[in-house]
Amino acid sequence: MTQDVKLIQLLSDGRFHSGEELGSILGVSRAAVWKMLRSLAALGLCVQAVPAKGYRLQEPLELLDGALIQSILSPSAKPLLSELELLLTVDSTNRHAQRAAVQGARSGYACIAEHQSAGRGRRGRAWVSPFGANLYLSVYRRFHLSLAALAGLSLAVGVAVLKALHRADLSGVGLKWPNDILWEGRKLGGVLVELTGEASGPCDVVVGVGLNVRMPRGAGVEIDQPWVDVHTIAGGCSVSRNRLCGLVLQELLIGLEDFEQFGFERFRADWLRWDLTKDKEVELRLNDKVVYGRALGIDSSGALLVEEGGTVHAYNAGEVTLRARDDTVA
Ligand code: BTN
Repeated sequence: MTQDVKLIQLLSDGRFHSGEELGSILGVSRAAVWKMLRSLAALGLCVQAVPAKGYRLQEPLELLDGALIQSILSPSAKPLLSELELLLTVDSTNRHAQRAAVQGARSGYACIAEHQSAGRGRRGRAWVSPFGANLYLSVYRRFHLSLAALAGLSLAVGVAVLKALHRADLSGVGLKWPNDILWEGRKLGGVLVELTGEASGPCDVVVGVGLNVRMPRGAGVEIDQPWVDVHTIAGGCSVSRNRLCGLVLQELLIGLEDFEQFGFERFRADWLRWDLTKDKEVELRLNDKVVYGRALGIDSSGALLVEEGGTVHAYNAGEVTLRARDDTVA
């Protein structure tokens, strides 16, 4: 364990600790403690310094705990995980998982980070990833399927995350095609699936899930769309990040295995159950045009069905916006 992690652990209770106490536990001078505390600010951690009291974190933290997360996995999910790597900070867990795969990590490798310095969303967006506040999780898996057979995988991952959220008793959460996780029109989480491989397979897939758990207000202002976090949905009750992480990992591992065996058909009914756009007027932004119509769910491959002037078209790509009755967008 690095000194930085030890220091964060000592401060994670949110109580005051003197520089002297921290220095003696870590075996370093008070000046070295001060330097380390300054480096925590670079991770987005807010450390308060109060004369005669010492240092404390503005908010207590529940640090990620690999053993606790793995203890949540069922006997059928455990063998599907080849390794779980915990990272203090990383550019992006998806990038890290891709690098791990290139370096020989086995299918079923997963990584979780406390902080991402360059978290990535879909369509080239940034994913705001402050320290210790949310979930940033990626799983690498090799599929013995063709690229075409993997159509619908990103929707299946959305279904897996929704199952985990329901197991965590979070209600009112749904999916906006293909896999945006929303609550009352606000973004709770997202899925980034990245594939490499031959058209005929096998394909290496990295599935990344980001879930806002308790977004600090200062970080939330950086998000360029309406957002929400688990803490708000749970009515201000604190929800364990480790439990949520275990539940999401559990459903992901099982979901990816089911996808390999049964394909998207296995997930379609659940996706439709949680479809937030069904029968709603939508705007679909494609690369070269914008389509307006009524969303009619998805077809057997996961393509979005939109009725435009009496004709139904299936779309494999695009950005959906819900058009509310008063013509404002949600
Ligand atoms: C979206 O834009 O809706 C997708 C967001 C996906 C974010 C997650 S966080 C873990 C993983 N690592 C990344 O860099 N992105 C994904």
